[in-house]
Amino acid sequence: MGPYRSVARPLLFALPPEAAHRVAQRMLGLPLPWGRIGGAVRDDALAVTLAGIELRNPVGLAAGFDKTGRHLDALGRLGFGYVIGGTFTDRPRTGNPKPRIVRIPERSSMVNAMGLPNPGAEAAARTLKKLPRTSPRFASIADQSVDEVLRTHALVEGHVDAVELNVSCPNVSWGRDRDNEAHLGDLLRELGARRSKPLFVKLPPFRSHVEREVVLALAAIAQAGGAEALTCSNTQLVPEPRLSTGAGGLSGRDLFVGTMENVAEVHRATGGELPVNASGGVFSAADAMACIEAGATTVQVYSGLIYRGPRIVRELTGGLAGSLRSRGLSVPAVVGTAQPAT
Ligand SMILES: Cc1cc2nc3c(=O)[nH]c(=O)nc-3n(C[C@H](O)[C@H](O)[C@H](O)COP(=O)(O)O)c2cc1C
Repeated sequence: MGPYRSVARPLLFALPPEAAHRVAQRMLGLPLPWGRIGGAVRDDALAVTLAGIELRNPVGLAAGFDKTGRHLDALGRLGFGYVIGGTFTDRPRTGNPKPRIVRIPERSSMVNAMGLPNPGAEAAARTLKKLPRTSPRFASIADQSVDEVLRTHALVEGHVDAVELNVSCPNVSWGRDRDNEAHLGDLLRELGARRSKPLFVKLPPFRSHVEREVVLALAAIAQAGGAEALTCSNTQLVPEPRLSTGAGGLSGRDLFVGTMENVAEVHRATGGELPVNASGGVFSAADAMACIEAGATTVQVYSGLIYRGPRIVRELTGGLAGSLRSRGLSVPAVVGTAQPAT
């Protein structure tokens, strides 16, 4: 057990989740040797291209960990292949009332109902503008109306390598109360006319047959609308009486099996033409490899960073590199190799 799991995690977990997160953010603001702390393994076998963006490895930091974008430089120094800031919205948002995150340590999972608190697109753009680039970085954006998304996109796009459109946050009403398919089509049409960087679409997870149909329809709309990659998936809406909202998005190990299935289905449904980023319960190199073999070009971590600490970057990159080397392969050569022949 490393120093994070034996010392830092017990201290952080003694605090409420949001207080622990603030401590972690403050640490990231310190000039610590982040490269050594993350310990990412560099190996040509790990290099991938995501929508034309060269990544040193396929392990990304998922949206929502750095909601202000202020620590993307330190997070990039940990050695992630890419980092995502946000989700940013047009106007600043305070999010839902607290408590809005609970841990489920026995299952290495969490449920959150943050409701997208963030400083707003103008402040985010100012932050990103002055922050050193230490890895490829993306901005996650979402909003109520098409116009708000367009304004947010216009403000942040110039400061990042790609934008991830979050159409899957379970903690805000707009995902539930409208025709998501028509809305995504409108968004992609309007953004298509304006954008100059790759655009990814982050889809919700599916468990039931009905949800599967909805998500595959969104994937098809994203593909037809010119999205360059899909992220599968976001958190899964579950009841949680300890949250102020009574329900929230489940993340962590509980999601993993579903993530692999979602990745495989979306990869197959889009004919393998769109890169897929796997998000949900990735904690180990074996998890990452399983997602890549199921069809993911990259994996993203959030809960894994909370439960395993910054060394997760080394564990994932080192484990993937070792396994690929022993088979004489590279990441691009194994993407989708576990897909059943059609
Ligand atoms: C506290 C918390 C806040 C999150 N905020 C966002 C967000 O703002 N935007 C987003 O797209 N996803 C957000 N997510 C979802 C993560 O990006 C990720 O998709 C999800 O947690 C599943 O991955 P994991 O099991 O590795 O955590 C959040 C997750 C958590 C736990």
